[in-house]
Amino acid sequence: MDRYERILITGGAGFIGSNLALQLQEMYPDAKIMVLDDFSSANFKNLKKFKGEVLACDVSTDEVFFKAEEFQPELIFHLASITDTTVQDQELMMRKNVDGFKNILDIALEVSATVVYASSASVYGIVKEHIPLKEDREKSPENVYAFSKYIMDNIAEDFSQSTGIKVVGVRYFNVYGPGEAHKGKFASMIYQLYKQMKEGKNPRVFKWGEQKRDFIYVKDAVEATILSAKAPKSTVYNVGSGEARSFNDVIKILNESLGTNLETEYFDCPYDFYQEYTQADMTKIKNELGFLPKYSLERGIKEYVDILEGRIQYPIGS
Ligand SMILES: NC(=O)c1ccc[n+]([C@@H]2O[C@H](COP(=O)([O-])OP(=O)(O)OC[C@H]3O[C@@H](n4cnc5c(N)ncnc54)[C@H](O)[C@@H]3O)[C@@H](O)[C@H]2O)c1
Repeated sequence: MDRYERILITGGAGFIGSNLALQLQEMYPDAKIMVLDDFSSANFKNLKKFKGEVLACDVSTDEVFFKAEEFQPELIFHLASITDTTVQDQELMMRKNVDGFKNILDIALEVSATVVYASSASVYGIVKEHIPLKEDREKSPENVYAFSKYIMDNIAEDFSQSTGIKVVGVRYFNVYGPGEAHKGKFASMIYQLYKQMKEGKNPRVFKWGEQKRDFIYVKDAVEATILSAKAPKSTVYNVGSGEARSFNDVIKILNESLGTNLETEYFDCPYDFYQEYTQADMTKIKNELGFLPKYSLERGIKEYVDILEGRIQYPIGS
């Protein structure tokens, strides 16, 4: 990343945002970093080691203008979003996610800041073929959360073309790692299964556990997010591991990491449409920014479990 002196992170008290804030703080100790979050899905404990300013603010309200503009950021990471994907209130989802994003873009224009914002692999919808998903493939958002991200991608493209402000989307796949516990049932499948197994329960997944996901460890997701500020031009990048791994794989690695031998309970999937497979095509971010994930699923889960079990100290997630 070029040298930035003033960095704003919206949603910075959440899971990925807090990991990002602490990583930026370590990389750029002289930079001023401000977190702006409405704390609707956050944990202040994620920022216990953060040395910068934290402001409570809803990005979809006018309050954001004076709070963020006064700070004069040169770089904005916009991660604030409703992340409960089951929220049905379409107006609420669109107001918070899309109007909030538009406010952030207006601020970026005012202060000439670069914007990196969180998109989501959910924009691709339910894909029947088992293939790596490229950024430019057809989109088919299946719920209003995914729809809000899809519209954000459209707005980003128009806005960057008309203003010349650099706006880069990071299309996260399934991110897991320390700092996600506050998300409850929206935390990663890896965390849900860890919790069940930790309590001595048999891990439960839909029959027959061979559904595959692209899981990316939060440290890799943060590295890709920071690198994205360096994108040569406005664009969207997939941010995944590039690999599709099964729930059975996850359970096997968790059993090894926890020293358990718990048997999996399989049950019928109650949904007509269920995502059977996701895999990011990572060619674009690799070619343009040189990003390569460092954590295999084995390495990521092992480190995560070591952190959850207190065997490794980590500043986030207690
Ligand atoms: N975790 C994943 O696997 C994943 C996958 C795809 C996309 N994403 C996206 O990444 C971003 C971060 O997600 P996360 O997993 O860290 O979830 P999170 O819920 O922990 O983080 C979201 C943060 O945004 C804050 N927030 C919500 N609405 C706000 C508003 N109107 N104004 C200000 N703050 C607000 C919340 O309090 C929270 O701190 C989100 O944009 C999410 O949609 C995450």
